[in-house]
Amino acid sequence: MTRLRPVFSAQEIAQQVDRVAAEITARYREEDGEIVALCVLKGAFVFFADLVRKLDFEPQLDFVRLASYGQATSPGEKVTFSKDMEISVKDKHVLIVEDIVDTGRTLAYLTKVLETRGARSIAICSLIDKRERREVELDVAFSCFQMDKGFVVGFGLDYAERYRQLPGVYEVCEDA
Ligand code: IMP
Ligand code: MG
Repeated sequence: MTRLRPVFSAQEIAQQVDRVAAEITARYREEDGEIVALCVLKGAFVFFADLVRKLDFEPQLDFVRLASYGQATSPGEKVTFSKDMEISVKDKHVLIVEDIVDTGRTLAYLTKVLETRGARSIAICSLIDKRERREVELDVAFSCFQMDKGFVVGFGLDYAERYRQLPGVYEVCEDA
């Protein structure tokens, strides 16, 4: 049977979103040039919607969806776009908004693509920075929460496409 153990409440998340939105605003407010906030679908959609409404500047918004092939953690894993961006990032500051950074492979790929497309700067904002399985060095400049291990769902995060709608974050516990 699957049990869900509460990890971060809706209220705790809202507080952290406020804090991170203030940090991001401080980082970008004086920046000249266009800023693009880029949501990594599907998992970041709830976080993105809450976060962008708290920013005190006007970013352009866009969405990508990435798919990984091969074994989830194998070094030979390939990442591709299953939905690409619709606006150009050339000479723009890009803020990537992700649900959770785990091995780092997905965002390492996305960052590299944005660099080749001429982004002026790239920063990563993640709801959760999960460090135990990190394989690629990544600078997660903004994060609401850090976690060592565990598999979590809710607030956009899924387990086989379920639980995304939950207002809080829960750990999935499989009972024997
Ligand atoms: P990675 O950083 O390339 O390993 O990929 C991170 C992606 O794996 C995230 O964007 C999620 O879609 C998924 N993922 C990793 N850990 C979790 C978790 O605890 N719950 C739900 N999805 C996760
Ligand atoms: Mg994701």
